[in-house]
Amino acid sequence: METREFEALLRAKTEELNRLIEPYLPPEEGWQRTVAEAMNYSVRAGGKRLRPMLMLETYRMLGGEGTEIEPFLAAIEMIHTYSLVHDDLPAMDNDEYRRGRETTWKVYGDGMAVLAGDGLLNLAFETALGAFGRVDRSDPAALGRVAEALKVLAGNAGINGMIGGQAADIEAEGQAGSVTEEQLRFIHRHKTGALIAASMRVGGILAGASREQLDALEGCAQDIGMAFQIQDDILDVVGDSAELGKTVGSDRENQKQTYVTLFGLERAKELVEELSEEAVHKYLDGVGREHEFLEQLILMLAGRRR
Ligand code: IPE
Ligand code: IPE
Ligand code: MG
Ligand code: MG
Ligand code: MG
Repeated sequence: METREFEALLRAKTEELNRLIEPYLPPEEGWQRTVAEAMNYSVRAGGKRLRPMLMLETYRMLGGEGTEIEPFLAAIEMIHTYSLVHDDLPAMDNDEYRRGRETTWKVYGDGMAVLAGDGLLNLAFETALGAFGRVDRSDPAALGRVAEALKVLAGNAGINGMIGGQAADIEAEGQAGSVTEEQLRFIHRHKTGALIAASMRVGGILAGASREQLDALEGCAQDIGMAFQIQDDILDVVGDSAELGKTVGSDRENQKQTYVTLFGLERAKELVEELSEEAVHKYLDGVGREHEFLEQLILMLAGRRR
């Protein structure tokens, strides 16, 4: 596929995802109107929709054709958005700019931003549970796949996943001496890798992937997650704030140790390339299905500017 064709397809798929997510957002009414507004403000600010995109592409690659994936697409984006709303809080990264707008706490205040994040997390599970109503209730295998997908979503968002990584990340900030490579790998794999892995696994599980295929998807997602976070670390140093839609120099401000501080820009860039190649050729190829768009997506992410 030519780059122009890929980019047009990427835009169309992002729009499709925005249309699918929109109906699950809360109505802005009643005494809880402000928190609903704050939730919608953060989700509607946009973002690349990478996680639902990986989920849907994985599902379709493996032959999934149902609609039970749709609540999960909305749910993963809600969980990811909540993680960003909390990540930006003064008590965490203290950032004022995200997805091309002021951060949720800057607009709505800290308390409301905490609650908007909590609200998104809760709504994510309420939404994903709706997938039970999208499969044939007399088909135990289909019900079992939804249950299994929910378990992955919950586990990967929690302390053995994203939250665990975020906790290790803020703890490392105040750490005397340098972080070890092992420590940084734990942080990146968890804070970023876990939701990306959940996305691909949920797509695979709902489509009825085999054990071997799920293992390949896990390896692929772990590499994507690591490459994605290293590239994020790089862009925090060399990126353009307007293009990125978020503050650059945040890591330096917070004295974060990253792949860039540990290995330097050049080696960090090489790692992104190596991990992306491995994601495609060591793992994705092993799933044994046609995957041209996913392959191009993964390779494009390695050179992303936003
Ligand atoms: C930002 O994620 C946080 C990281 C894990 C690096 P994205 O770069 O996917 O953010 P959006 O969704 O496009 O705003
Ligand atoms: C955060 O990593 C990853 C999350 C789980 C939110 P960063 O703190 O580097 O993400 P940005 O740069 O603020 O998007
Ligand atoms: Mg952070
Ligand atoms: Mg941050
Ligand atoms: Mg960052």
